[in-house]
Formats: sequence, C-alpha cells, structure tokens
Amino acid sequence: MIKSLKVLVILCLSAVFSLATQAQTDKQRAEIEARIKPVGEVCLQGDASCAATGAATGAARSGEEVYNTSCMVCHASGVAGAPILGDATAWADRIAKGRDVLLDSGINGLAGTGMMAKGGCGNCSDEEVTAAVDYMIDGSQ
Ligand code: HEC
Repeated sequence: MIKSLKVLVILCLSAVFSLATQAQTDKQRAEIEARIKPVGEVCLQGDASCAATGAATGAARSGEEVYNTSCMVCHASGVAGAPILGDATAWADRIAKGRDVLLDSGINGLAGTGMMAKGGCGNCSDEEVTAAVDYMIDGSQ
C-alpha cells in the first residue's frame, strides 16, 4: 500500500514537473519569436495593411503637409489657372460642385488641364490627397 502511494506521488510530481517544463518552453518560444520577428513589413500602396499603418514612409501626412509639398507650387500663385488657396471667389463655383467632385479631381486629375492626378504626387496615398483637398476647401471659403 505504502509502496503504491509512493509511486503515485512520484507520478504526480513528474506530471507537475513536465507541465512546468512545458510552460517554460512555450514562454521561451514566444520570447524567441518576438526576437526574430521581422523589423519592418513591406506593404504596397493601397493595401489595407498600409492604410492601417500609414504609408511605408510612416504615418499619413496631414492635408497641410501634402499641400505644402505637392500642391502649393501651383495653388499658391495660380500657375496655369490653378484656383489659389484662400481665394473664395475662385473656389466658390468649384466648391458648389460638391466635395466628391473635388476629391475626384484631386485624386484622378482634371483631363485637359494642368491639374494632374494627385497633383503629380506619385507617393501620395488617396487619403493624403483627400486631406489636401479638404485643407484647400476649408481654407478657401
Ligand atoms: C502643376 C500644377 C498643379 C499642381 C501641382 C496641383 N494642381 Fe490642382 N489644379 C491645377 C489647375 C491648373 C487647376 C484648375 C483646372 C481647371 O479647372 O482648369 C487645378 C484644380 C484643382 C482642384 C479643383 C478641381 C475642380 O474639379 O474644380 C482641386 C481640388 C485641386 N486642383 C487639388 C489639388 C491638390 C490636392 C493638389 C496637390 C496634391 C494639386 N491640386 C496640385 C494645377 C495644379
């Protein structure tokens, strides 16, 4: 009787030990996986994963930043007849067409005019151009 009790205790102990060892192994595995996970992830423009994290260059730029780097060159002085930011008269008829029309012009350009798709900004996402158009609308009424 005592002998079989001893065997039972030993069996229990070894079960506890193997569980502990297993837990340790899982923890170590998680640590190792965390250490070897990729530093960066490649995402292509338009991917959902890019939209979540912002463009590959970092967070999405604000409308003002995009305007200053990509739109200002024409929209500050009126190059080729571009409506000037802040000129409420020049913008009134355009704003009257509705935001969707202006967003479409910003993203896809206006055929036959100096307004190219995304104002020529190759690395601007649709959201960034949208923010820039909103910035221009807000500043021009
Ligand atoms: C190379 C010059 C140029 C650049 C750069 C440029 N635009 Fe334009 N944009 C124009 C011109 C010219 C027009 C007027 C086109 C017309 O109606 O004849 C225009 C018109 C627009 C309009 C009004 C469209 C409409 O439907 O009435 C929006 C909105 C606009 N631009 C947004 C932007 C944004 C946003 C950027 C920067 C991402 C930008 N543009 C960069 C030249 C430019």
